[in-house]
Amino acid sequence: MNWDVDPQALPGCSIEGIRVVELRGRDEAELQRFFAQAPDYFLAVNGEPATPNEAREELQGQLPPGWRCRRMYWLGYRDGQGQLVAVVNIAADLLALGVWHIGLLLVDSRLHGTGLAQRLHVDLEAWAVTQGAEWLRLTVVLGNAKAERFWPKLGYVTVRTREGIRMGRQVNRVAIQVKALAGGQVDDYLRRVARDRADAQ
Ligand SMILES: CC(C)(COP(=O)(O)OP(=O)(O)OC[C@H]1O[C@@H](n2cnc3c(N)ncnc32)[C@H](O)[C@@H]1OP(=O)(O)O)[C@@H](O)C(=O)NCCC(=O)NCCS
Repeated sequence: MNWDVDPQALPGCSIEGIRVVELRGRDEAELQRFFAQAPDYFLAVNGEPATPNEAREELQGQLPPGWRCRRMYWLGYRDGQGQLVAVVNIAADLLALGVWHIGLLLVDSRLHGTGLAQRLHVDLEAWAVTQGAEWLRLTVVLGNAKAERFWPKLGYVTVRTREGIRMGRQVNRVAIQVKALAGGQVDDYLRRVARDRADAQ
């Protein structure tokens, strides 16, 4: 499929003046600059600012060994001047069919508290449903206060907390959170994704 011309291939954006593009290797320097403008996030999750190769490594889209997904997207949300105002990393059918994993949703800090993040998520969710998503999944680093407040407001629930997760210079405690998009029950989810059960090894 040619992802550039299929209008369903990328989410829409209901915020006036913002368009969604897929970020690729050529956007590395711009993504790196965007990361550099968000030191608070990287300090909260990695204990250090974005590393010099952060954007390159992210755009390569490597998953942990043994993991696979159907399709990974790096989405860029551009304003009328073409500047990035937000980026999203989302993987389709990770761990199980119908489970879409949000690896990152990062909004320009100047736009925090404006509702942009929530509207962006509404559009993302609607698009994911059209593409077969039944669940959204993500990992929240405990201590990332904005994220801890944000996701539950949107209907995410914690299915498992894990300790001792090394990220950058830090060892984190994380919450794995999910949101049902097609009326599913958490028990159904945990039957599909055994590794997210509270008692999984
Ligand atoms: C997580 C993140 C996307 C959330 O964005 P945000 O702008 O802080 O979140 P919101 O859109 O909910 O806005 C925050 C506040 O603005 C308020 N607000 C102001 N105007 C608003 C409007 N027009 N519509 C909706 N909410 C509005 C909200 O009510 C909210 O207040 P509350 O926290 O007291 O409930 C953002 O903080 C971010 O990019 N963080 C860094 C990256 C990160 O941690 N990502 C998550 C891990 S993957």
